[in-house]
Amino acid sequence: MSINTPRKKARLPVNGDRPNGKTLASQDLQRQREQLPIAKGRDALVDEIRRNDVTILLGETGSGKTTQIPQYIIDSGIAGGGVVAVTQPRRVAATSLAARVAAEQDVQLGDLVGYSVRFDEVASPSTRIKYLSDGMLVRELLSDPILSRYSVIIVDEAHERTLRTDFLVANLKAILAKRNGGGGTHTVTNGQSDAKGKGKKRAVENPLKVIIMSATLDAEKFSRFFNNAKVLYVKGRQHPVQTFHTSVSQIDYVDAALRTFFQIHIDKGPGDVLIFLPGQEDIESLEKSIQSYTRRLPENCLNVLVYPMFAALPPAQQAKIFSSTPSGSRKCILATNIAETSITIPGIRYVIDTGKCKEKRYLSRDTGGGFDTLLTQDITKSSAMQRAGRAGREGPGFCFRLYTEDAFNAMAASAEPEIRRCSLTQSVLELKCLDYDLETVEFMDMPESEAIFSALKTLFLLGALDRTKALTHLGRSMAALPLEPYLARIVLASKAHACTAPVLDIVSILSASSKLFVDVSEARDAAAEARRKFRHPSGDHLTLRNALKAYEDLLEGGKDDMDVDDARDGMEVVQSSNHGQGQDGKKGSKASKAARREWCRANFLNEKTLMEAMKIRTQLRGNCERLGLDWRTEPAGASGEEAVLRCFVAGLQQQAAFLQPDGTYKQVVGQSIVKIHPGSTLGDRKAPAIIYDELIYTSQIYARGVSSVPRSFFSGMTSSTYGTT
Ligand code: CDP
Ligand code: MG
Repeated sequence: MSINTPRKKARLPVNGDRPNGKTLASQDLQRQREQLPIAKGRDALVDEIRRNDVTILLGETGSGKTTQIPQYIIDSGIAGGGVVAVTQPRRVAATSLAARVAAEQDVQLGDLVGYSVRFDEVASPSTRIKYLSDGMLVRELLSDPILSRYSVIIVDEAHERTLRTDFLVANLKAILAKRNGGGGTHTVTNGQSDAKGKGKKRAVENPLKVIIMSATLDAEKFSRFFNNAKVLYVKGRQHPVQTFHTSVSQIDYVDAALRTFFQIHIDKGPGDVLIFLPGQEDIESLEKSIQSYTRRLPENCLNVLVYPMFAALPPAQQAKIFSSTPSGSRKCILATNIAETSITIPGIRYVIDTGKCKEKRYLSRDTGGGFDTLLTQDITKSSAMQRAGRAGREGPGFCFRLYTEDAFNAMAASAEPEIRRCSLTQSVLELKCLDYDLETVEFMDMPESEAIFSALKTLFLLGALDRTKALTHLGRSMAALPLEPYLARIVLASKAHACTAPVLDIVSILSASSKLFVDVSEARDAAAEARRKFRHPSGDHLTLRNALKAYEDLLEGGKDDMDVDDARDGMEVVQSSNHGQGQDGKKGSKASKAARREWCRANFLNEKTLMEAMKIRTQLRGNCERLGLDWRTEPAGASGEEAVLRCFVAGLQQQAAFLQPDGTYKQVVGQSIVKIHPGSTLGDRKAPAIIYDELIYTSQIYARGVSSVPRSFFSGMTSSTYGTT
């Protein structure tokens, strides 16, 4: 894991910034801190945390839990010489909160306060408060199974019940038993370990404190899991929110949100608007529509500033959301459920709730899946209430629900924990690495045995487990890569096939947060035409690589080489030019940057993805070196390309379909007929077998990210290995 030495002052501006980007004096931030609802309870909270090994802390969103508690812990000396970890289900939240807290402490980001998310870490040996994605802390477990460098671990947003959070919570219970006394096994029986641990604290060398924080009223369950741990409540400062429902259901929620926004904008007084949408595509499409209608507004209307907020948004863009609204303007934030509880944006008075979110769901082999897919779904009552609450933080507000009251009443109370609905492949591999007995490990909610069986089977097919379900050497190497097991398998296969360089290129692009090929429905033909020059006859995987190589040729042709900061600046420029708020005055060779941007635009490529992929690749190269893979290995000619495809088959053997005599493709694992996505470079070409990155479920099942491969590549792994279970 790389530690980036911080070079600059916290680069994300925070709430209270002047429009010119200069941070207000830190006294101002101190004043804001003191006014947070949590500040009044500070001493009592610190006392309780000091007294208990495990504390459950419940408090309304925006009360100050995430930003303040870690600072209280450091200031009061509870952390001793250790580090305080704060986990977040979303990486955007981790980076943005770390920046805020660094500013509150008036230190550089990466010094006292840092963050660590996949493929990006800003921390140093002096970091004492570290915001991590929950997945990153799980990864740290693999190299340090008792998380010894942390003296306090705060599991934040625990109500979200992500798979990683639940996994962590299960481990923390076992770690507490180890570090605070009370038996040395992984399987802790209820009630005993903690009771023993408490009496023996003197003898403990490196005790651990765990704080579970949540925004909703599900504390009891956490408390019970941790042997009736103490539950503390922080009162928020919630103002009344007037909620409206539509009289009929809205089929096109993006259009309904657009109309509602302008009704508010024209009829209602000042105050910022927060619109909840399920994902990036809807956000970007609504952003465009709002921008275009805004230009036609009468002169006397407030100016509209639109800000998107979703997971893949680069840091410089995120920061703008927190800046205060200039007078004569109205901010309109288009967000996913990230703004529901993990991030509080000041100034919101109006909320528009589409009632939709994207949810990860495991599609079993029978329904044609065998892996997780993101599906747009109705939200839960609990989410709907959180969303409405966002309007009443600073004064009375309004929430416009784009669904009927009956629809609200029909919503599920709260979401099912991910552990009950997501693929467990990666978690089971991690449990194996940590030497757990799958039969006895204790989770808050137990996964279904069928899901565990399915994960074991996948891991066996990938070669991570042997027939006795024991971890193989290959499995251990797979877990050492910061990739999902199937992608890790592809990378590791490249050693035997001597083609690590191209494989890493492609895997890096697939690991980036946005797709490389921009999908523009209005210009599909032009995009296809432009893409033709990168086209590889085998399909999309090698086509991705061709596009990356073409971009790199351009980079080498230009004068400036790119470092990470450069890449970030680049992203910012690309983004803001889309928003019509271009920023000038960036350092570096402007012409060549502009030329690259133009080249990407003309070729319908997402430059942000290319830059992110190069950054990811740098990290993966480091991982490969540690695993004894030479990432420079570049095979030549057609046999080299065949080698690359063989690696992909090794990882995607369960994401494959064979051509049937009637011309359709039938899954190798599972029974469904899949079609090649119209956006694929393969087009209508019939290939004896295809492998794919994902399935899209519409009226049909489409395979996206497709390559054609000879059927012989599957020999030795078909029929007998694949049952139909
Ligand atoms: O965790 P909880 O929801 O209780 O609150 P928090 O995240 O600690 O936020 C406390 C305050 O810090 C809120 O008023 C936020 O608006 C503010 N904040 C901010 O201004 N900028 C950030 N990047 C993060 C938080
Ligand atoms: Mg929080």
